[in-house]
Amino acid sequence: MFLSLASHVDASLATVFAALGLPTAFARAQPSTRSDFGDFQCNAALALAREQGRPPRAIAEDIAGLLRQEAIFSAVEVAGPGFVNLTLAAPFLAASARATIAHAGLGIPDLGQGRLVILDFGGPNVAKPLHVGHLRSLVLGESLRRIHTALGWRTLGDAHLGDWGLQMGMLSSAIRHRDPSLAFFSRGDNEAFPSNAPVTLDELERLYPEAAAACRSDARRMAEARADTAALQAGDPGLLALWRSLRALSLTSQVADFRELGVVFDALDGESDVRDAITPLVERLRASGIARESEGALVVDVATAEDTFEVPPLLLAKRDGAALYATTDLATLEARATHEGLARVVYVVDQRQALHFEQVFRVAGKAGIAAGVELIHVGFGTVNGRDGRPFKTRDGGVARLTELLDDAMAKATERIEGSGYGRELDAAGKRALARRIGIGAVKFADLSGDRLSGYVFDVERMVAFEGRTGPYLQYACVRLRSLLAKADGVTVAEPGVPVHGSERALVMACLGFGDVVAESVRLMQPGVLAEYAFGLAQRFSRFYAECPVLAEPDLGTRTSRLGLCVFTLGVLERALSLLAIDVPERM
Ligand code: ARG
Repeated sequence: MFLSLASHVDASLATVFAALGLPTAFARAQPSTRSDFGDFQCNAALALAREQGRPPRAIAEDIAGLLRQEAIFSAVEVAGPGFVNLTLAAPFLAASARATIAHAGLGIPDLGQGRLVILDFGGPNVAKPLHVGHLRSLVLGESLRRIHTALGWRTLGDAHLGDWGLQMGMLSSAIRHRDPSLAFFSRGDNEAFPSNAPVTLDELERLYPEAAAACRSDARRMAEARADTAALQAGDPGLLALWRSLRALSLTSQVADFRELGVVFDALDGESDVRDAITPLVERLRASGIARESEGALVVDVATAEDTFEVPPLLLAKRDGAALYATTDLATLEARATHEGLARVVYVVDQRQALHFEQVFRVAGKAGIAAGVELIHVGFGTVNGRDGRPFKTRDGGVARLTELLDDAMAKATERIEGSGYGRELDAAGKRALARRIGIGAVKFADLSGDRLSGYVFDVERMVAFEGRTGPYLQYACVRLRSLLAKADGVTVAEPGVPVHGSERALVMACLGFGDVVAESVRLMQPGVLAEYAFGLAQRFSRFYAECPVLAEPDLGTRTSRLGLCVFTLGVLERALSLLAIDVPERM
């Protein structure tokens, strides 16, 4: 079985603790926070002092004495009140590097063990093109999907399309108002309805904001939209035919945007898929007394005495019987729970919906929906403009996702021209390069940092070849590849015993990969992995500046360093692929 560095260290500690009669539950070490404290640090002596009735330093000395006999350490020191600082032996690092390279997951542990996780992300509504608000869900969700897969989970990515709400009624009534001849769906007969949408995609995308504005300003229009929505939900054949055609039309453009971002869904299910499950669910919750009536509506109380903020009741059905967003989410969860082996559902949705998910999860808990399944809302902050407010276009509208990506690609093109990158490429090659760089830059900016903080969408800063950026990481990969291409036949080279300080730091960084991947899912923060990738690229730069590789005269050292480059490239490429950042062939 593959063991990470930390597990090797803990195993040594456990042997020593057992020999000393100390409780092995305390046999744990953490990576050191400072390099002059060694690689790992064990603080157990401090925690054990009271129960052992001995000064912590004395316990630490006992532990250190036995640890010094373990071959994996080159130095074991007691520091301060009783810390044990551990430095790993260089030959052990070399052996670990070889074992990690041989491991298919490059050290990523199999934590999922084939359990199923459903990732609910993207979540566009029918008839609305993808906009800036979808960027983060798509980018974070795709990365979390890939990371779960790497950790041995079975994954199912589901876009959970918003395709059954009021916007559908707004659209049908707007089409009727604009051009009655297009309103085939109002015929009310059972003739075969056309399957083509009565409007083009462009028209549809313009129609929606118009329809929404009309409903906001005109109560009669709103009433009409509501009536249409109710009729659709009740199964009116004409409205269903229209709905089907509009859904297909807008999905085509949404899927093209997913593809542009390298996002893959296993299911493009929507709210409509559970439409028949809603009434029985609501009835069950009413009959079991979980839901109660309140001013004609049906609600579920979810507040608890421990709450530190107000959690209002979940609104299950309105006075007119109409189901709500939360009702659909509950019905969807119930349907998802029928998947064999489902262990976790991850909702990658704007942090502003945190209360919604809190309510839904609590009702699910009360009603025994998806019992035993871990439900996680992975929220995120907004994409902001330079003014620090949620991003808007110059005329104050909502920015389309493709516009943002186009901006990044335009900036990438400008930078490519200015830098001499891609010199040997033809025009099409340059465009492809700009696309990879632009999209990679946006993704890295979106993924890095704490997902809960918003960030400023600033292509100027994102598309830079230096600094904490996607292009910097892409370039590090390209540079490593070309270095290895120049060293014929050395792709089989293996890292040897690291000698130089920056060489050692680089091996250590590569060996930490598996634990970082695990950590990024434990915290649901792909940013942890993004930050790691950046640190790794930096360590590589330092190593490359300080240690000759191709020019190294000693054959053994040269081969060992080339082996380290192979290792670094493998880890960096894997890390970027888990972040869904493509690396260009050349830059
Ligand atoms: N369509 C929703 C929106 O636009 C997002 C859906 C998120 N997923 C969910 N299961 N609620 O806000």
